[in-house]
Amino acid sequence: MRGKNIIIGICGGIAAYKIPQLVRLLKKRGANVRVALTDGGTRFVSELALATVSGEPVYRKIFPPMDTENMDYTRHITLGEWADALVIAPATANTLAKLTAGLCDDMLSVIFITLRPAKPVLIFPAMDGQMFLSPSVQRNIATLAAQGCTIINPESGELASGLCGLGRMPEPEAILASLEEVLHTTENISPLSGKSVVVTAGPTREKIDGVRFISNYSSGKMGFAVARAAAKRGALVTLITGPVHLDTPPGVKRIDVESAAEMHDAAQKFFRSCSIFIGAAAVADYRPAAPCEGKIKKDAQEMELSLVRNPDILAEFSLQKSSGQLAIGFALEMESDIDNARKKLETKKLDLIAFNFFDHKTAGFEVDTNILTLIENQGTTTELPQLTKESAAERLLDAIEQRCTRT
Ligand SMILES: Cc1cc2nc3c(=O)[nH]c(=O)nc-3n(C[C@H](O)[C@H](O)[C@H](O)COP(=O)(O)O)c2cc1C
Repeated sequence: MRGKNIIIGICGGIAAYKIPQLVRLLKKRGANVRVALTDGGTRFVSELALATVSGEPVYRKIFPPMDTENMDYTRHITLGEWADALVIAPATANTLAKLTAGLCDDMLSVIFITLRPAKPVLIFPAMDGQMFLSPSVQRNIATLAAQGCTIINPESGELASGLCGLGRMPEPEAILASLEEVLHTTENISPLSGKSVVVTAGPTREKIDGVRFISNYSSGKMGFAVARAAAKRGALVTLITGPVHLDTPPGVKRIDVESAAEMHDAAQKFFRSCSIFIGAAAVADYRPAAPCEGKIKKDAQEMELSLVRNPDILAEFSLQKSSGQLAIGFALEMESDIDNARKKLETKKLDLIAFNFFDHKTAGFEVDTNILTLIENQGTTTELPQLTKESAAERLLDAIEQRCTRT
């Protein structure tokens, strides 16, 4: 922690009383600590105590008083630049909602927005268990996690309400340990840093006529998680995506396409220049042979739709890639049949395939979790447990990183 600039954001939760102790622990480790306190936070911990233990003024209001000499009028921006990491503990339901919405009405919310994308943000939600499990809090947490924040869930134990259950903020020692771990991970330069990575994601739409199409249930969540994780490791990521309802991960260049043919054309432009091609899109295998411009009338009792094969984008890349390039694919299988995935790995000459077991509730399309088995062409097979798509993406990238260091 020596020399690290850490901002601690404190919100109006009862656990705020523990934060002066966290500040002391960080200072003992040699970190420079500044505190941003919300209005709610002032009700639970004193500004004077925090200023004393941090040795710095406590930051609360965006608008500085006009009567102070040598006032830094742009500190709402400079604080975000100064910080190496932001820790928000305790994070209230209210502040989680503000951060998710992008509101900027106090110093903490402004610092959150002005922090550079690559800098770690650790959020420790702490609140009554019912509040924590409410759909709005869970939705906001998922959004912040999707933006790259590290969310450390509260623990179970005695709560201020007198109840016992989920909602307790971890102790200052545990918060420090989480921060050290996150800083350690981000500082270890990834072998993906500076590499050009192309990720395809989402479904494709294959036009039947002017108003209808063939598609599938892919939400794009897995591909977006992979793109986000690669960008976090310093890769130069291009994300080619079919129609999805997802925000572009920070630092990622996004290309929107609709059909398999459009995805193929967009991807082909990167075949020579990219280092790693990750095909996470659910590209339609077939498209209508002769799509109509207008709307097909429902005159006939029956109709036949003639389909033709779409290009296999990943296989095309893989079969022409040079020795330094890696081709990574996903294989979604309805049954727990890993042999089909192995066959795809071999016939498409991929370097690694993520066998993706399909289950309506826990894995595959639309859901937020996935169960992957990573099969490498060099023989290693790694079965992952059920993970969030974010965590599964991190594990996939760990495996790709290992490949990069071996080749
Ligand atoms: C005694 C008391 C304890 C509270 N504890 C929490 C808490 O642990 N977590 C939480 O999310 N809100 C808690 N609240 C509600 C917040 O203080 C309130 O939503 C406030 O607006 C938060 O403001 P802030 O997010 O700007 O700090 C508590 C309120 C009171 C009166």
